[in-house]
Amino acid sequence: MIRQALGRTISQSTNLSSKCYDYYITTPIFYVNSSPHIGHLYTIFVADALNIFHRLRLGSSRTIFSSGTDEHGIKIKNAATLKGIDCTTFCNVNSSKFRELFNQFDTTLTDFIRTTENRHRETVQTVWTKLMSQGYIYKSTYAGWYCNSDETFVPESQVTTRSDTNGTCHVDQNGNVVTWSEESNYLFRLSLFESDIRRWLVEKKPIVPSKFNTEALSMLDRSGLGDISVSRPSSRLDWAIRVPNDPSQTVYVWLDALSSYLTIVDYPNQVDNLKRWPIDCQVIGKDIIKFHAIYWPAFLMALSLPLPRRLLCHSHWLIDSYKMSKSRGNVVDPFEERDMLTTQGLRYFLLRSATPHSDTDYNRVQALHRVNAELADTYGNLMSRCCSKAINPAQVVPTSLTECSDPRILVIRSRLAQLVDNCSTYYENADFYRGVDEIMAILRLNNVLYEDTKPWKLIKEAGTDSKSHEVHSNLQAITFETLRVCSILLQPIVPDIANAALSKLNIHDRSWESARAEIKFGQPQHSSRSLNTNLSALLFKRILENKVES
Ligand code: MSP
Repeated sequence: MIRQALGRTISQSTNLSSKCYDYYITTPIFYVNSSPHIGHLYTIFVADALNIFHRLRLGSSRTIFSSGTDEHGIKIKNAATLKGIDCTTFCNVNSSKFRELFNQFDTTLTDFIRTTENRHRETVQTVWTKLMSQGYIYKSTYAGWYCNSDETFVPESQVTTRSDTNGTCHVDQNGNVVTWSEESNYLFRLSLFESDIRRWLVEKKPIVPSKFNTEALSMLDRSGLGDISVSRPSSRLDWAIRVPNDPSQTVYVWLDALSSYLTIVDYPNQVDNLKRWPIDCQVIGKDIIKFHAIYWPAFLMALSLPLPRRLLCHSHWLIDSYKMSKSRGNVVDPFEERDMLTTQGLRYFLLRSATPHSDTDYNRVQALHRVNAELADTYGNLMSRCCSKAINPAQVVPTSLTECSDPRILVIRSRLAQLVDNCSTYYENADFYRGVDEIMAILRLNNVLYEDTKPWKLIKEAGTDSKSHEVHSNLQAITFETLRVCSILLQPIVPDIANAALSKLNIHDRSWESARAEIKFGQPQHSSRSLNTNLSALLFKRILENKVES
């Protein structure tokens, strides 16, 4: 009974996806014991950019993109107690800060789950009952070092002692205090799944970047998998979901939290009736690999559900080389940054500068310079130049080039031709910085060409000199093509700016595939269409340096 269906869940050979939805992407759900910071915002931006990217690729907006808040557990309870308010009020207030953040930054979220919702309690209790009835959960006593901060038991091998002015305490590898806990609770037979998890990681390599797949494998190799505690006595932790038929116990917060991905697709329904399954992409931070690459697949296998297709893991934003944390007092408030950099500017900087495989330092002054240099001086500048009345009195977009052998135009043309495929590969792996690097390089080349060709002079001669007319029109044609292609590919990164550009250019087809170069070369004469003269060509207003303090 217990080992049934594991092969099927790993191989994912079935196509269980409901016809209603074409893609399902998740973010982790955020703890409500602290306010949102730019690291959280980055997580959402990564998933949002991927959601937009897939919508453009699929030509469908029928995607599920979920986030939410993780509201149970001892640290939430302690934080509420510290504030002197009850847990429900505390969670309501803090959950709404995350919801507000995601609204204000115009994300394309389709669902926001709170673990204190009834729909979620029903899912968790169904999950529990199923695991129990299949024999995967059993009652026992558990003794070990418990870390409140991570809400998890820590293996003895990772615990050391630390002495400071407050005395001696035990800490885990991250320096978090752990306490010895011995209690009666329920255990999940994680040990049964070790070889299947290893096989999944080796054969499917679901975690990208690959270094994190290797890291997950080495977690298995280092410690091997023992059974894990999946409940706590209610007397010790009451701010959690009750275990069905045993009110003396509450459900382990990670089993509770991970189940939220099932709640989103109406899990108590049968697998064939889920909104969509398996999950196409789960965006996670590197600190929660263990839970998503080991516990989560084991729970899913035990439930006979196929495993996620991909875990996209990212590194962290640091401040002066330290991870942001409330206790260190180095947390950067996204609303404050937004006031300085604008919504699109902050989104651009975070997606454009972070490297998923390594941590990145957040620096406000660097952010300002990058946003000004790239969004205003490169992208915005090219747009406003070729739309200006002085250079483009007829307000038209030439859509073809006459016979043209200018090597600079040919280089831009060939780079544009490769851009869609390159960006597809980069974006697929959340390597947004690499895609934007290439886009900016082409925009810069085109700006240089513009500078060298001096269209403001040519336009004066164009009425009488056919050569000047041709060079001017060819320059405008390649420039508008660059702007069209780059704007389509920038939609996941800076959706508002890219869409403003495409509207100004009168482009209706904004799908991913439409970015394949469409300009016609070697035409005997130019064809053209009109710019939208009701819209401004100003894409991004430079931010004044004195607005930003380091
Ligand atoms: N509640 C759990 C997740 C449960 S998912 C079933 C949790 N919450 S968290 O609020 O601590 O973290 C949520 C996400 O934010 C994680 O993916 C984490 O990596 C990410 N980040 C937290 N700090 C971050 C940075 N400084 N930089 C980038 N991402 C960061 O873990």
